[in-house]
Amino acid sequence: LENGVARTPPMGWNTWNTFGCNINETLIKQTADALVSNGMRDLGYQYVVVDDCWFDPNRDSSGNLQANASRFPSGMRALGDYLHARGLKFGIYQVPGARTCAQSVGTYPGSTGSRGHEVQDANQFAAWGVDFLKYDWCDGSGTINDQVATFAKMRDALRATGRPIVFSINSNSFHCCTGPQRNWGDVANMWRTTEDITNRWDTGNTNGYPMGVKNIIDITVPLAGYAGPGGFTDPDMMVVGRGGMTDTEMRTHFAMWAVMASPLIAGNDVRSMDSATSTILKNSRLIAINQDTLGRQGAQVANDGGRRVLAKPLAGGDVAVALYNPGSSAATMTTSAAAIGKSGSSFTLTDAWTGAVTTTSGAISASVPAHGTVVYRVSGGGTATPSSGALVSSSSGRC
Ligand code: DGJ
Repeated sequence: LENGVARTPPMGWNTWNTFGCNINETLIKQTADALVSNGMRDLGYQYVVVDDCWFDPNRDSSGNLQANASRFPSGMRALGDYLHARGLKFGIYQVPGARTCAQSVGTYPGSTGSRGHEVQDANQFAAWGVDFLKYDWCDGSGTINDQVATFAKMRDALRATGRPIVFSINSNSFHCCTGPQRNWGDVANMWRTTEDITNRWDTGNTNGYPMGVKNIIDITVPLAGYAGPGGFTDPDMMVVGRGGMTDTEMRTHFAMWAVMASPLIAGNDVRSMDSATSTILKNSRLIAINQDTLGRQGAQVANDGGRRVLAKPLAGGDVAVALYNPGSSAATMTTSAAAIGKSGSSFTLTDAWTGAVTTTSGAISASVPAHGTVVYRVSGGGTATPSSGALVSSSSGRC
């Protein structure tokens, strides 16, 4: 979406994965302070997104949304001010239908969705200083064309406010494989590709709730052709630091989100992170690959029984390559500079996890542990047409 924002994948933090509806302004302020003091803000984690359940169950007498007064007694404008004063940005949640997801399933009262209030709500968000809107389709019915038209109403209402606001959507019923994937870049800055993530490696679901990290990777990799500055596929907020997976799996999660040009939205409690979590979320080499200004999503150049090689072209001619091994045993994985779009006879490989630099005349290889991912930044030589042609591939989006 050409609205001036999200030229690279948005980074930040969201309340939902750890706190669900159990949120309040103290939590948000403490989280903001933690993002500043632990260095995450300065690495790019800017957007602090207050997900479902921040609002009063009733609109006011003029139909305006209101903050839940017991959880957010200072109000949303004051919360936005708090974030802005710390160099952070303010994200909020709403839905296009009648009820938020929590309201739909009865875990939160009221019926405060934006249906029929799009312009009023967009103006309210702008007045509160909102910089990011997560807009979540929670009413199960409707065709994909209904969804496009409905999401576009809020897109246009946000644009009309004149405030640059990242528009993040979740089409829900049109995820793989319950419906066709779509390139939503005409509507939104980022769009969910799957059902909700959970902190497991593999739930066995490719079309149901909840989904593991491996399942989400399987669905999102084929969508590489859709991503670019202003519009990114969104494989959901991260579960790094939420337990339930090994450190190797957590590293794979972060590495693949980075190479897939996915929004890096932390979903753990950043006020209390162990060092493994902190090291993963703050890997500046992977963040640089994710935030590269070309905005390209790493595309698959090989798939050997599920072991995938992804290549992500970077500004200036470097290419990031991911060697992803979802198998149950370690494997030596190999590709070549030519296969990832480089020409020449001398390259350096910088390992994104260790920082180790090696040289090669073309072979790119690593022993990759089970469920592990090795990422190299490949520098040197020129940039050629990839031998497989896969760097520019897209897909129908069906898995
Ligand atoms: C469904 C979304 O997929 C989640 O990320 C979260 O926003 C919940 N709705 C909130 O109800």
